[in-house]
Amino acid sequence: MADNIVRFLGTAWEAASSAGEIIRSNWQQPQIIDYKGAIDLVTSVDRECENKIVSTIQRDFPDHSILAEEATEIEGAQPEYRWIVDPLDGTTNFAHGYPQFCISIALEHSGQVIVALVYDPLRRECFRAVQGQGATLNGAPIQTSKVDELDKALLATGFPYDRREHADFYLSFFKAFLTRCQGIRRNGSAALDLCYVACGRIDGFWELKLKPWDIAAGALIVAEAGGKLSNFSGAPFSIRSDETLASNSIIHDEMVQVTSTTARAHVDCISAG
Ligand code: IPD
Ligand code: CA
Ligand code: CA
Repeated sequence: MADNIVRFLGTAWEAASSAGEIIRSNWQQPQIIDYKGAIDLVTSVDRECENKIVSTIQRDFPDHSILAEEATEIEGAQPEYRWIVDPLDGTTNFAHGYPQFCISIALEHSGQVIVALVYDPLRRECFRAVQGQGATLNGAPIQTSKVDELDKALLATGFPYDRREHADFYLSFFKAFLTRCQGIRRNGSAALDLCYVACGRIDGFWELKLKPWDIAAGALIVAEAGGKLSNFSGAPFSIRSDETLASNSIIHDEMVQVTSTTARAHVDCISAG
């Protein structure tokens, strides 16, 4: 397996660095934009990066399965290996010239993410993790922060693309945390938000309705850096669940208390009509 891990990481890095070059060469140029929903954009750069990443993976691992955000769902002859790819996480930022986005690549083996790589092409920051072997930033080990109370924590969050329909519900979590922590950032790339938890730039993160490609790599990077992940009730985390809560682990119970109480208040409100 160790030899394979080196090969998996090599392929992930080749794919991410080529996509990074595509992103850098198109950065701050007018973009060709399509709409997947009212506010859910996709640019030609997202698609070009996805094609590059998928062809690199298929060249090296033709039997593996691939799930990539824009158009790719391939069942391979070895379906226990599944690459999960977000070719450009932070598309809205990229399209507006706001410098916060990345490429996210994870490899699942029998339902468990074993290799993760997130690359910020502007800062040239590459976050990596291998299951059971820790997490690194540009090769140096990283760890989550030591902040020990929510009162002193800097948090990050994001809002799903159906936020125009469910704004009050999403904002109820924002309001609950706003009065309990030191600050909240909305950076626009969930994969980078998770990496920032992993390297201690922020202490916790929550978001609803993220997709496997947004979080598969970032979640392993957080876990391998000593952080904790769960759903909003504190139950075990899944990259296929609607609720992502990640922290430095020390403030996790306090964060769960906020998310679970807020979710319960919403249910009570619905039942009361
Ligand atoms: C989005 C970003 C954003 C998050 C959204 C995601 P995309 O991914 O991660 O931070 O709030 O929920 O969908 O569309 O830029 O790949
Ligand atoms: Ca994404
Ligand atoms: Ca994307």
